[in-house]
Amino acid sequence: MKIDLKVKLGKMVLKNPVIAASGTFGYAEEFKDYMDLKQLGAITTKTITVKPRKGNLPPRTCEAPAGLLNSIGLENPGVQCFIEEKIPYLASLGIPVIVSVSAEEDPAEFVFLAKKLDRIKSVSALELNISCPNMQRQHLIAQDAQATFKVVSAARKATKKTIITKLSPNVTSITEIAQAAQDAGSDALALINTFSGISIDIKTRSLRLGAGSGGLSGPAIRPMALQMVRQAYEKVKIPIIGLGGIIDTQSAIEFFIAGASAISVGTANFIDPAISIKIIAGLKEYLREQSIGKISLLTGSLR
Ligand SMILES: Cc1cc2nc3c(=O)[nH]c(=O)nc-3n(C[C@H](O)[C@H](O)[C@H](O)COP(=O)(O)O)c2cc1C
Repeated sequence: MKIDLKVKLGKMVLKNPVIAASGTFGYAEEFKDYMDLKQLGAITTKTITVKPRKGNLPPRTCEAPAGLLNSIGLENPGVQCFIEEKIPYLASLGIPVIVSVSAEEDPAEFVFLAKKLDRIKSVSALELNISCPNMQRQHLIAQDAQATFKVVSAARKATKKTIITKLSPNVTSITEIAQAAQDAGSDALALINTFSGISIDIKTRSLRLGAGSGGLSGPAIRPMALQMVRQAYEKVKIPIIGLGGIIDTQSAIEFFIAGASAISVGTANFIDPAISIKIIAGLKEYLREQSIGKISLLTGSLR
């Protein structure tokens, strides 16, 4: 049986629905010795800002039960250096490149980044990271429906490329924010970023992360991520990229059934750098076993 893994997200067509998640896959070159990168559905870069950022004070990661707490703080070389030094390698792969972007202070930085990246042919899509919990801000854009609408609309006017809006789980109503992003013209949603949390060293009675709090990822967050994907799927029409705790084929399949059109692999890359390729093969095998010819037929198929 021939299996069709193709998915469409906005204007972007992926040969399979498995995407490397932002911040866990560098700029792809770091993973070239572990897999044939060309086999991936797409790659999402580490989040880029207008100016270079050093990130937060170390320690920046610590283990949590069934998960990882991180407070990297969007370390990145800035958009100009990214274009000059990282884009050429990414472009050489010939697969869709999703550039994750964020603003440090002024939401207008999203517009600047969207306009600048709109001119780069090898960039397929922009992922608006309005949900990073490690920026020492009181509120995230993704915690406010009006602010989400404003930022996504402004970015929409600045670029013709596919826009993905990455949402935060640290909200009261995920559907309200998902709806705002859709209404503002986002082509797709990525659900979810990390959950805000802390970890305490009982010997020193101090916080384990240099920045104090961090973002929780990994299998610990999967049930909540799945529920949010399901809730958003029931509310919006645009495709959803599901992520949060995917570590193998089975956990990836759960997200498709809940309503995801594609999935991203994050923390699991640190355990097995080639896991995404294994998931692509596993998805094919599962669809064949279930006599489902197309991955799109699995999306939202929860009974
Ligand atoms: C070390 C680390 C760095 C991350 N950096 C980013 C980032 O720069 N931009 C972003 O949108 N998400 C970032 N994330 C969040 C992931 O992309 C993903 O949304 C989250 O970890 C949940 O998926 P997972 O459980 O598969 O890791 C980061 C996650 C980790 C663990």
